Amino acid sequence: MATKPNQRPLTTVTDNLPLQALIKESQQRVEKMLSHWLPAENILPEELHAAMRYSVLNGGKRVRAVLVYMVGEALDIAPEALDGPACAVEIIHAYSLIHDDLPAMDDDDLRRGKPTCHRRFDEATAVLAGDALHSLAFHILAHDPAIQSSDHKRLQMVTCLAQAIGSRGMAGGQAIDLASEGKTLTLAELENMHIHKTGALIRASVELATLSGDCPLSHQKALDKYAKCIGLSFQIRDDILDIEADTETLGKPQGADIARDKSTYPSLLGMSESKRWANELHQDATQAIDIIGEKSEPLSWLSSYIIERGH
Ligand code: IPE
Ligand code: IPE
Ligand code: MG
Ligand code: MG
Ligand code: MG
Repeated sequence: MATKPNQRPLTTVTDNLPLQALIKESQQRVEKMLSHWLPAENILPEELHAAMRYSVLNGGKRVRAVLVYMVGEALDIAPEALDGPACAVEIIHAYSLIHDDLPAMDDDDLRRGKPTCHRRFDEATAVLAGDALHSLAFHILAHDPAIQSSDHKRLQMVTCLAQAIGSRGMAGGQAIDLASEGKTLTLAELENMHIHKTGALIRASVELATLSGDCPLSHQKALDKYAKCIGLSFQIRDDILDIEADTETLGKPQGADIARDKSTYPSLLGMSESKRWANELHQDATQAIDIIGEKSEPLSWLSSYIIERGH
């Protein structure tokens, strides 16, 4: 395939020390805030609160939170105003993983290098931990005093997250995923599934950041295009890692997609075409945010990290 004229080289993420520092800083920041919002384990019902804390505070790359902070940085929004949205998206993500791992869904035993929530606790507790986390995320958006936006904007944030994770967003994508097991999807169907199950929350992470301050419409549109591209490339990389990485590095069972006969990018397109497609999305993502200027550079690095990451 012909190279686009303004195609950029991939930043080698392992050598990109400023990116690593930015990621670490955001991770540490959101970990602290997550611990603050999650009820303590000695508060009744103790087992439920223990399961919630276990599933949220058990590592994870925190890509969605990092994205919130990096978009905020590009738009000169103070990090204090972004803590609420960053926590909300990570909490929703954690809930989605708890439910994704349940026997009724992907039936996985390992998550972030530890027993999945239903394995460590039990299925009922895992369902309830997911339910309670879902609710906590919206509580944070509605009540966090550090969110400085007008009530109208706060309402837009709540609506944005609700739409992104409902039946026409993440939950809908998960439904398509489960209905597709054992079937071969077309590429368009696969893309649609990925855009919903994974892309929608990533897109919402970016939008919540733009709603946390003043963002010109031109930048909003550019960032939304960026978010759509990285949302899809994120899941393509996840599909690739299911084959190429090992269980220890992944912290979740390698080969799980093949075992459950899922349609994935590598199963449909092959490995090298999947990687080429992820790279193409990275190029589109970085081009989209060109208009923001040099302040968008960390977001370009993050896009390359998403398609290069090893877990
Ligand atoms: C895994 O997400 C599930 C997908 C949506 C692909 P992550 O790869 O972000 O998982 P953690 O949060 O780092 O564990
Ligand atoms: C999970 O996708 C997407 C959501 C949780 C919404 P996967 O099923 O591919 O995620 P992993 O591979 O188990 O992390
Ligand atoms: Mg799944
Ligand atoms: Mg899964
Ligand atoms: Mg996967």
